[in-house]
Amino acid sequence: MSAASAPGKIILFGEHAVVYGRPALAVPVTQVQANATVEKTGEFQGENWADSVLVAAPDIGLFSPLSRIQSEHAPHPLAAVIENTLQRLGIDRPPAFRVTIGSTIPVASGLGSGAAVSVAVIRALAGLFERSLSDEQVSAIAHEVEKLHHGTPSGIDNTVIAYAKPVYFVRGEPIQTFSVARPFYLVIADTGQAAPTRESVGDVRKLWEADKSRWEAVFDKVGEVVQEARSAIESGQTSRLGPLMDANHALLQEMTVSSPELDRLVLAAKTAGADGAKLSGGGRGGNMLALVHPKEKAPAIAESLRKAGAKNVIITQVG
Ligand code: PMV
Repeated sequence: MSAASAPGKIILFGEHAVVYGRPALAVPVTQVQANATVEKTGEFQGENWADSVLVAAPDIGLFSPLSRIQSEHAPHPLAAVIENTLQRLGIDRPPAFRVTIGSTIPVASGLGSGAAVSVAVIRALAGLFERSLSDEQVSAIAHEVEKLHHGTPSGIDNTVIAYAKPVYFVRGEPIQTFSVARPFYLVIADTGQAAPTRESVGDVRKLWEADKSRWEAVFDKVGEVVQEARSAIESGQTSRLGPLMDANHALLQEMTVSSPELDRLVLAAKTAGADGAKLSGGGRGGNMLALVHPKEKAPAIAESLRKAGAKNVIITQVG
């Protein structure tokens, strides 16, 4: 038997503009995680090895042979991650096995649930066959699977989750991690509304296609916010981060990816004393985050967010 887990992630700055080549900052969130367990159940028999592989994801009511969720036209992300990993490991006739998946990461909410499930499954499978894959290889397999969830993912989710480190991410460039000179505290609150990233990313693309120069300028402003935020985090000047979060949220509102619920939570956090707040991830629903200083304020801000309608609240330390 082999088991692995992977954390969630949150984008601190730079979502959406990152799809257009600007940098973004993201960190792992260890309070939530995806888990995968893989057990050999015997030798495979019959024509197709995928008949002897059972995929169990009790949280979503899935108990199925792999062969039944395989499809060339609409590939299932769980089938794709298993197939791609076996292919990467060079195993074309695996023994019968069962994969069991569980996750405490809410789906479609900006916490990287899809990438975390992929990373956990990839590592558990590699472990079953006593093989090790580098973080880079794990990230690359998970990125292929992300394409099924998102269409054109920048790769930020699989990178942060596979490396489990704070990441300064630029699409297509080698990973850069960043250091956190002074820890800071975030309150992350979930609107409870699942919002597929594919849609918000598609809508931003339509805006960009209709007026590239306008949106390139907006993405440039996001890029400047990200650079300033990185230097503030690396030099321990965390008091500079709040206004930068507010500025990033305003730019995301301009991109039309906020929502009345996200704006309500952002306002509630600020009114309760957060230094800054913004939506995080694809937007239109999912999560927002607020910067809290000092950390003693966090429980009161969390309470205000719950009163303003947050369905789940996480307090986390960065660094
Ligand atoms: O919704 P999430 O957290 O998976 O993040 C999406 C981030 C985007 O920048 C909107 C899209 C991407 O692929 O980077």
